[in-house]
Amino acid sequence: MTSEIIATKPEIVRLQEVVNKLLTTSRKLKVLEAGCGSATEIKLPNDSYFVGVDISAKQLDRNTVAQEKILGDIQTYPLPKNDFDVILCFYLLEHLPQPQLALQNFLQAIKEDGIIVLALPNVLSIWGLITKFTPHWFHVWVYRNIFGEKRAGTDDFGPFQTFSRFSTSPKDIQQFALSHGLSIEYVDLYENFRQTGMREKFGFWWTILAGAIKILSFGKVATDNTDYILVLKK
Ligand SMILES: C[S@@+](CC[C@H](N)C(=O)[O-])C[C@H]1O[C@@H](n2cnc3c(N)ncnc32)[C@H](O)[C@@H]1O
Repeated sequence: MTSEIIATKPEIVRLQEVVNKLLTTSRKLKVLEAGCGSATEIKLPNDSYFVGVDISAKQLDRNTVAQEKILGDIQTYPLPKNDFDVILCFYLLEHLPQPQLALQNFLQAIKEDGIIVLALPNVLSIWGLITKFTPHWFHVWVYRNIFGEKRAGTDDFGPFQTFSRFSTSPKDIQQFALSHGLSIEYVDLYENFRQTGMREKFGFWWTILAGAIKILSFGKVATDNTDYILVLKK
């Protein structure tokens, strides 16, 4: 295992251990990174062959990992059948109007024994619901003025248009996986670093808001687990 990527986010460190254990084959891996953007989060063997698919030419240009770059919509692009050992899909599904089409595409493109790694926001969290029900211009404003990302909203640097369909909830995606013959190898629900920062900043007021939302939603809306990672196996 190797490459220059050094995981610093705790959820990625945990995921890396799981992936290392699951990838025991010595053959060269063919990896699809769906909605690859400019970055890859986890380490895979150096000789892996990376195919990156993204709908943004600018994002593809910035990607220095993919050996093969495909400009296309993952919901409709005809991925080859039974072709990939690993499919990585980090923070893409929330940006798709029809995420189930992407999942179907992954299902037919992954090899027997291959693994699919999904990382995405938990739509059934305070964070997820606020993102879902606020307009794109507001997201751009928050990225620029609260998160300090001056390039936000320009040159395909994100944030990207968000749909966050309810079908992407942790429960729904796991049901989809099981009903399509995939096994669930790993589930990790966690709080993203942005919410951690805000929670620490607004301590008292956050506790009041979170408590009220928990009560009003009968515990159905998560206050802490903003995001999740799933590892599925065919
Ligand atoms: C939030 S970024 C995530 C990028 C990268 N996976 C990461 O974790 O840093 C979302 C990416 O998905 C791409 N994207 C959005 N809609 C897409 C679609 N329909 N098909 C393929 N890529 C898409 C965007 O261009 C962007 O690069």
